[in-house]
Amino acid sequence: MSQHLLLPLAILAISPIPGAFQDSALSPTQEEPEDLDCGRPEPSARIMGGSDAQPGTWPWQVSLHQGGGHICGGSLIAPSWVLSAAHCFVTNGTLEPAAEWSVVLGVHSQDGPLDGAHVRAVSAILVPDNYSGVERGADLALLRLASPARLGPTVRPVCLPRASHRFAHGTACWATGWGDIQEADPLPLPWVLQEVELRLLGEAACQCLYSRPGPFNLTFQLLPGMLCAGYPEGRRDTCQGDSGGPLVCEEGGRWFQAGITSFGFGCGRRNRPGVFTAVAPYEAWIREQVLGSEPGPAFPTQSPEPQSGLPEPTDENCTIALPECGKAPRPGAWPWEAQVMVPGSRPCYGALVSESWVLAPASCFPGRISSDLPPHDLDNWRVMLPSRPRAERVARLVPHENASWDDASNLALLQLRAPVNLSAAPRPVCLPHPEHYFLPGSRCRLARWGHTEPVPGAGSLLEAELLGVWWCHCLYGRQGESVPPPGEPPQALCPAYQEEEVAGRCWNYSHWSLLCREEGTWFLAGIRDLPNDCLRPRAFYPLQTHGPWISHVTRGAYLEDQLAWDWGPEGEETETQTCPPHTEHGACGLRPEPALMGVLWPWLAEVHVAGERVCTGILVAPGWVLAATHCILRLGSTTVPYIEVYLGRAGASPLPQSHQVSRLVISIRLPRHLGLRPPLALLELSSRVEPSPSALPICLHPGGTPLGASCWVLGWKDPQDRVPVAAAVSILTPRLCHCLYQGILPPGTLCVLYAEGQEDRCEVTSAPPLLCQTEEGSWVLVGMAIRGSRELFAAIAPEETWISQTVGEVHFLPPSGFPHWLPEGGDLCPPDMARASGSPRAALFLLLLTLLIQG
Ligand code: ARG
Repeated sequence: MSQHLLLPLAILAISPIPGAFQDSALSPTQEEPEDLDCGRPEPSARIMGGSDAQPGTWPWQVSLHQGGGHICGGSLIAPSWVLSAAHCFVTNGTLEPAAEWSVVLGVHSQDGPLDGAHVRAVSAILVPDNYSGVERGADLALLRLASPARLGPTVRPVCLPRASHRFAHGTACWATGWGDIQEADPLPLPWVLQEVELRLLGEAACQCLYSRPGPFNLTFQLLPGMLCAGYPEGRRDTCQGDSGGPLVCEEGGRWFQAGITSFGFGCGRRNRPGVFTAVAPYEAWIREQVLGSEPGPAFPTQSPEPQSGLPEPTDENCTIALPECGKAPRPGAWPWEAQVMVPGSRPCYGALVSESWVLAPASCFPGRISSDLPPHDLDNWRVMLPSRPRAERVARLVPHENASWDDASNLALLQLRAPVNLSAAPRPVCLPHPEHYFLPGSRCRLARWGHTEPVPGAGSLLEAELLGVWWCHCLYGRQGESVPPPGEPPQALCPAYQEEEVAGRCWNYSHWSLLCREEGTWFLAGIRDLPNDCLRPRAFYPLQTHGPWISHVTRGAYLEDQLAWDWGPEGEETETQTCPPHTEHGACGLRPEPALMGVLWPWLAEVHVAGERVCTGILVAPGWVLAATHCILRLGSTTVPYIEVYLGRAGASPLPQSHQVSRLVISIRLPRHLGLRPPLALLELSSRVEPSPSALPICLHPGGTPLGASCWVLGWKDPQDRVPVAAAVSILTPRLCHCLYQGILPPGTLCVLYAEGQEDRCEVTSAPPLLCQTEEGSWVLVGMAIRGSRELFAAIAPEETWISQTVGEVHFLPPSGFPHWLPEGGDLCPPDMARASGSPRAALFLLLLTLLIQG
């Protein structure tokens, strides 16, 4: 039934496509007499990464309209039949009425009057019974035209492949359509049909690419009847609006339709070639639907006949394409760093984002971004790029439309007059897609941005790790930064710096950019302007919001998919958390869960006294540590010792090195009113320690026995390796404590009882503190150890006034729980109980028993 013949002379006359007419063009199938010539365009004729087609190159291409506009593509396969994709016509499992659709044939530009085009109504839409969604295959449809198309130079059918037809892996084919030229970027006027050359990918090669997590952390299982075409490196592809259109391959002077544009994951992304419905497997279905219609579609035999078992590569490994952007020889040597020189102003730093475009803060070009006219002196602007001997000239300045009033949009794009050759340098930086999720813990670095001076000395001061969104919000939200609560992405990006600000050194740079690394590839993740400040920025505006604008303007900036998908529990920051207590100074008592950067106890300080003893200290405010006096000042010693404090060490073994912070103690404050032997000492540090997950102040307990809290004595077991240990304890009620120790305790003493077997966990000599975690989850300091005792602690609460007066920024929680002190009166206790039986545990047991009986 296959009718597919051609009229050699006529064709010769009308088909001067170079190479189209080779010796074998007159295939062995030419003996069949009548009829439908197929797959031969008239003389010379987005798609993403494609270009304008010449009129008449793809005469089978049709545009399917609904409601007066282009929706999908299709291909003419016979005068009364159009082949397209099922998903264009099925919504929520229901086939749309044929009457709503029309077919536009012979159209080239869809702008204005469709010259030379003609329109046909659709009388029927046929979809395979087993079609149930693009990703489940069988995504094809046949449209019967109400009246046959008028064939002519710009309206001709394409050839269909038989079921036995084989298209070899690697074949260069063409896809055509009026679809988007990039994700979410429609084809601009005058809507000229786009064409793009795509290579067929064998099933194994395509499956291999799709088996690697890609955009949205998705992988995909190809099904029989699907076909892939494109490139591992992406960038050329079909896109939204191309669906239903043809993928055609030339064989012996004819164009066969190998595929129907069906779907993809995004458009033109790396390792995500377009997926097409393979036409050959549907020969029988197509023939069945068009049965009786004359002339029907042509299915020319393949010439030469396919050899069965053509070596289609079957092995599972494939070459995964790696990003072409974001590679730096070493951190700080940025091959995308662009220096924009504008006459009369200081150089402005930006980043190369494609062959021809540089991204920089718009505020570098004040007065030049407000008017609609291009800056008059653009001719004199120059851009210096790494390893380029000569400066580049600038063709265009495109400021972000919100640049002048929104700091988060303080961006401008500069187009270079001539694209640069990308090599090791210059090389563009990668930009994140809007849905990019920078994993907490990602390694980041500050980089020059805008008007800055050379970044001073220690490169490590520029290093940072990314905080999770909750940490970012809770930790920095109240420090004068605007950090929205976690919710809809994109979130503010908060770096935690590895080294703290050096005292007295101010960072007088108004702009920073934040580069974050994923699998060795650097992304431009965020930007930030700062008022003159001595601190580095705490929260960055995410750049990913601007991806669509940047790709729209540049058409080819390197927007890259996420490379790391190892979402740990930190990554699943979906459920709502509440931030721990805040004061105007920020949060207190947060503890990373699980340990971010390996620091388990961010408020635990090692206090090194005179270089020999180590005591426990607790960070209570950015510049203050609380410790037990007896550990700091030894009996008999009259001199004030040399004391150093280390933070960010209290991790698991081995200790995290990178987050350590050390400070000198410049003064020791004691509560004078307590006379000679006050139990608590406040140590003033030489400079503030900015809150971060490795060094964070604890909350202070305002008094009373904390109700419903779990309490711990925190210290060290082994003085050598200093891995912190926590022993679970219960805080005894004041009455029990009072009775157990027979009223000999100074006021404000707390007694604890260790959980079974936990008594010996901490060494007493380091004066371990008593901490509790409240029901709300924040950690509070309740007491500091009293000399030589495991069970007795000096309560913090009675010293609230002194502590608050000495240190402005401490965080006392609002009062809760039982009051501490009972009315005087030893008669509440059974006589001679305490310590009588050797261990506090046994004594307490006896005591409880007596009190119970008494009561
Ligand atoms: N489903 C799209 C449409 O309806 C076609 C998408 C093709 N996408 C791709 N990346 N190849 O127009």
